[in-house]
Amino acid sequence: MIETGDFSNRIVSAELMEEDTAIEKGLRPLSLAEYIGQDKVKENMAIYIEAAKRREGALDHVLLYGPPGLGKTTLSAIIAKEMGVNLRITTGPAIERAGDLAAILTNLSPGDVLFIDEIHRLNRAVEEILYPALEDHAIDIIVGKGPSARSLRVELPEFTLVGATTRAGQLSAPLRDRFGIVQRLELYSPEQLSEIVLRSSRILGIPCTAEGAMELARRSRGTPRIANRLLKRVRDFADVLGNGEITDIITRTALDRLEIDDKGLDNVDRRMLEMIIKGYGGGPVGLETLAAALGEEAITLEDVCEPFLMQLGFLSRTPRGRCATLLAYAHLGYPVPQGAVQPDQMTLLDDTE
Ligand code: ADE
Repeated sequence: MIETGDFSNRIVSAELMEEDTAIEKGLRPLSLAEYIGQDKVKENMAIYIEAAKRREGALDHVLLYGPPGLGKTTLSAIIAKEMGVNLRITTGPAIERAGDLAAILTNLSPGDVLFIDEIHRLNRAVEEILYPALEDHAIDIIVGKGPSARSLRVELPEFTLVGATTRAGQLSAPLRDRFGIVQRLELYSPEQLSEIVLRSSRILGIPCTAEGAMELARRSRGTPRIANRLLKRVRDFADVLGNGEITDIITRTALDRLEIDDKGLDNVDRRMLEMIIKGYGGGPVGLETLAAALGEEAITLEDVCEPFLMQLGFLSRTPRGRCATLLAYAHLGYPVPQGAVQPDQMTLLDDTE
């Protein structure tokens, strides 16, 4: 029996935790020049921002999508700063009624950036208010009740909506179509993450060697939020077991104790691969079946485990289900059976969303 993990306490969870907000506040880059990685997104955004500034207009609406913890909120703050406008931050589930959104929209100043995180969780009534706001810079408010109800059009200043989602496929088509700029954020390479770790350790005043940063980066599942969180945990080990400096040996000791292995897998990732290998002969197995067998949410497996396991080449998503690859067998120390998925046969579905 493979035991059930608890995602909410997972140190390698990419979800925002309370202590992260404090960590992230001081560490967030404030300009595109300071922002490490996501080169294509940065280059494109720099051009769109420059063009909008030359035209003295608002930037077109932007949709940022990709796995959690990659810096969507940070990017929206940079966009606002580079445009020289205010930023309003909210989330899809926080806007419960149409009136909540109307209140936010009517308080915007010309050019402002409105950031809506988890925009796929906006409810229908709220989404309907958003359409004319995005397209015509106006909202239609119903005043009064029954036969005397009237629709009142309220003009809004020109503004930029930056929407963020981990699941672009869950946005309704009319909403998705209203974003002029759509950018996908990718998991970071270990080299980029090690640059981020070195930058964060400089800001926090933690001595850290290049090898220590690289070791930490390799085990941070391509995600800056996790790298910054692990940096603080490894610092504790460095202070108590060493001389305060983060080295590769200290990092290895700390992360081994946290059960994060040399590729960055934690026990939830390993349980997922083991279940495919031992429970389903290496796959294919459907995501829902797998989630039920593991006692986890399918969404968590899909958003948090799979992008990283796929980046490592440990998992393939085929039309018939998930398969563990040869590399996964080798990493977990299982003998490779005949017929296991070879990396060059993998039918990778780039994006099943
Ligand atoms: N901290 C978190 N994400 C970062 C990034 N992309 N660049 C620099 N510092 C960061």
